[in-house]
Amino acid sequence: MLNKLISNILPYMPEKLVWQFSKDYIAGETIEDAVNAALKLNEQGILTTIDVLGEFIKNLDEAEANKNEYLEVIEVAEKAKVNGNYSLKPTFFGLLIDKEVAYQHIREIVAKAASYNNFVRIDMEDTPCTDMEIELFRRLKEEFPANVGLVLQSYLKRTHQDIKNFKDIHSEEVPINFRLCKGIYVEPASLAYKKYDEINTHFLEDIELMLKEKMYPAIATHDKPVIDGAYKLLEKYNYPKENYEFQMLYGVTPALRQSIVDAGHRLRVYVPFGKHWFGYCTRRVKENPAMASVILKAIFFK
Ligand code: FDA
Repeated sequence: MLNKLISNILPYMPEKLVWQFSKDYIAGETIEDAVNAALKLNEQGILTTIDVLGEFIKNLDEAEANKNEYLEVIEVAEKAKVNGNYSLKPTFFGLLIDKEVAYQHIREIVAKAASYNNFVRIDMEDTPCTDMEIELFRRLKEEFPANVGLVLQSYLKRTHQDIKNFKDIHSEEVPINFRLCKGIYVEPASLAYKKYDEINTHFLEDIELMLKEKMYPAIATHDKPVIDGAYKLLEKYNYPKENYEFQMLYGVTPALRQSIVDAGHRLRVYVPFGKHWFGYCTRRVKENPAMASVILKAIFFK
């Protein structure tokens, strides 16, 4: 109830107040902010994936501008020798307006990253985008086999089968690279598991399938029981340390993050930045009112 109330009033709160809780979770507004945050994480033995905040644009001029911003991010981050890759949301490039235009923009970004022998992750958005984002990834993977990966969401009932369907473009030489997360959007019960335990069980089943198939899983969660479950699976399959990684969001559960690094696992932090942080944060909370508790804590209990 309180969560719902906060999620409704948040868009009308002063930006300065919202920044108070957002600043720990966002690297800043500029490319330099993102690169500096990434370099600091690198100093702690942590890899990064930089993301420009924004999604669901209104016209294709914005898509072009967003592509140019990503190309600049790659240029600046590579020159600064950041040890990390890049993540993007296809709707930021007009996926829901003209999917071919979005594909061409994203292709250019992946080509740029590939020219530095680097990698771009296609984030997964809500279910109206799922098929289109899988198709986009398949096309890119054909041209850039080692430079592109996709996100899958364990709350979706289709995900286990989706992983099996990808066997045709997976090989041990160039393993398919999936980030598995729980999923952040509010989806209908016909498409998504809703209960915490159900989502966690499927998370670990999906990871186990990826391990059996010798894929490269990026295990993206801050949930201790899921991390412990993943540890057990990695041990069971005696999985080589260079064939998987853990991932977390910037600023979230830093102590747990450090424990993963200390245990010798590869860990990557998602570093979001950009001038659209206010819309991004308020939309996230509107989509997922449970996040309002995190905000409340950040505002009042710091
Ligand atoms: P859960 O939500 O159960 O949280 C476990 C605990 O972690 C909480 O109790 C809390 O302590 C802490 N926590 C979690 N999130 C927090 C936050 N934001 N602030 C403070 N504490 C927090 N989703 C998606 O649909 N598409 C995508 O492409 C991505 N990409 C992505 C990349 C990376 C690197 C991560 C880590 C996550 C995503 N997500 C995502 C988001 C993901 O789907 C999920 O919503 C969040 O990670 C929260 O789920 P947890 O697995 O952490 O568990």
